[in-house]
Amino acid sequence: MSKSPILQVRNISRNFGGLVALSNVTFDVPRGVVTGLIGPNGAGKSTLLNIMSGFERPVRGHVLLEGQDITAIPGYARVKLGITRSFQDVEIFPTLTVLENVLLGFQNQYGEKLWRLVFTPGAVVRQRREFIASALGILKSVGIIDDRPDELAGNLSYGQQKLLALARMLPTNAKIFMLDEPGSGLPRPIVAHMGELLQRIARDYDKSIVLCDHNMDLVLKYSQHVLVLHHGEFLAEGTPDEIRKHPDVLRVYLAKPPEGATVVPLTPRGNANA
Ligand SMILES: Nc1ncnc2c1ncn2[C@@H]1O[C@H](COP(=O)(O)OP(=O)(O)OP(=O)(O)O)[C@@H](O)[C@H]1O
Ligand SMILES: [Mg+2]
Repeated sequence: MSKSPILQVRNISRNFGGLVALSNVTFDVPRGVVTGLIGPNGAGKSTLLNIMSGFERPVRGHVLLEGQDITAIPGYARVKLGITRSFQDVEIFPTLTVLENVLLGFQNQYGEKLWRLVFTPGAVVRQRREFIASALGILKSVGIIDDRPDELAGNLSYGQQKLLALARMLPTNAKIFMLDEPGSGLPRPIVAHMGELLQRIARDYDKSIVLCDHNMDLVLKYSQHVLVLHHGEFLAEGTPDEIRKHPDVLRVYLAKPPEGATVVPLTPRGNANA
């Protein structure tokens, strides 16, 4: 990974009253790849995504986007800098159509400007046509029912709604996508489809994706780099293969051996005697 990181997280701490949700967390998010973020329930993953995307402030530490300190910049302003995130719950507008949901993601719509509507209606119509064509292309590439763009989004299956939530993020021109549990509750084929899609978005469009999910099939198969949190502390990072074999990760998280079984780390990273 020779490219400079897109995001640098430095010594981030966050408390909720007496509860330490994150403690001195430091890592880089590499550019143009899928970075997995894993950890058991309550590890601090969503809190970390909130802090990286500006929805929460840390009590200590810094977040840098392409070298610029953005710690003090609120979430709505970080969107303009190219950071977008999804939340654990599905976020779509169920009473709008599938196509309308994606169209909402396009920025700088001429139709929103009264003077354009009055003085250059042709340009408004042309832009609308272009956005519709792009939105249909996005729906097709995401694999949502290209023959049902006029279906109400609320009528889609849960899996399709999750894909639609992802499709809505694509027209935003974001550089970095932070996804909180996009795979939760999805059937296996849709999880695989989601994973391939995320890889394709990162590779073909040079986007950086932070993929936080409990679904190990999704994270370890489709991430190029994986970060592990445990009880608010940064536990490990590495390639999926390194994480699968990491003794600390095996100990606290991945290894749930049958009773009486002994976990033997294959090739411990960093410390051969661990
Ligand atoms: N707004 C809040 N107020 C109080 N405590 C909070 C708040 N948000 C998170 N916490 C606590 O901080 C810790 C980390 O929570 P967080 O939601 O970041 O974990 P997570 O890794 O995303 O968990 P999960 O896998 O269950 O989504 C937990 O102990 C949680 O209860
Ligand atoms: Mg969470």
